[in-house]
Amino acid sequence: MKRLARTPHATTDFLKNVFSEVPATYERVNHVLTLGLDRVWRRRAARIAAVAGGDQWVDMCTGTGEMAVYLSRLAPGGTRIQAVDFSPAMMAEARKKREAAHIEFVSADIHALPFSSGSVDLITMSFAARNINVNRESLVHGLTELHRVLKPGGRFVNLETSQPPSGLVRNCFHLYVKLFVKQVGSRLSGSKTGYSYLSRTIPRFYPAEVLVDILHQAGFGEVTFRRLMLGVAAIHQARKA
Ligand SMILES: C[S@@+](CC[C@H](N)C(=O)[O-])C[C@H]1O[C@@H](n2cnc3c(N)ncnc32)[C@H](O)[C@@H]1O
Repeated sequence: MKRLARTPHATTDFLKNVFSEVPATYERVNHVLTLGLDRVWRRRAARIAAVAGGDQWVDMCTGTGEMAVYLSRLAPGGTRIQAVDFSPAMMAEARKKREAAHIEFVSADIHALPFSSGSVDLITMSFAARNINVNRESLVHGLTELHRVLKPGGRFVNLETSQPPSGLVRNCFHLYVKLFVKQVGSRLSGSKTGYSYLSRTIPRFYPAEVLVDILHQAGFGEVTFRRLMLGVAAIHQARKA
């Protein structure tokens, strides 16, 4: 197993290296660590997203493509589904899926998308905002780019871990992440650096209300969210005015 340099900040190269180490085991590790809830949450986010209408849908930071696959099952005929990621290794895993035949894979960084302004009806993103959040500025930059490519009235649906409002639940959640995500993830995937990094991104991500502010800062008008499982995760919906 290749050794990765320890970096205080998640640079693009660092992230690409992390995601080159985990594709084969990525889904199994998620299902084990969340007791299968990640699948339930992705399906729920996909159902919320699929009512958006329009025929140009994009799953950003698609990774191994689970969300894109759920979208493809829900999409009306004639919908074009594209899936974007900057990790060739993660997208190679996604391409192995049966439904991949209905999905166009695009290699790109979310900060510089190869789409025209106002060309997309729906954008989904799951469990990736934490990676874009090298710092708040970088997250706002990425979300502003999503806002740019959406059509007026287009929607962005984001599924991400969050911060439970109850201090007790939050402390238990962070303890679980500290004790299990790094250890179990490292053991099952063989990537110690990868799961050490991924486990650090969870406690430092934003409460749902702060992510609303960040989405407004990125240009979105109407933003709503619903908490999942006492607030350990949240689905945000944002509309371009
Ligand atoms: C934790 S995985 C999430 C994958 C998938 N969306 C899911 O629900 O499991 C994060 C993904 O975001 C991708 N990614 C991170 N930063 C990115 C960026 N700036 N541009 C494009 N893809 C990025 C990574 O390559 C990785 O596949």
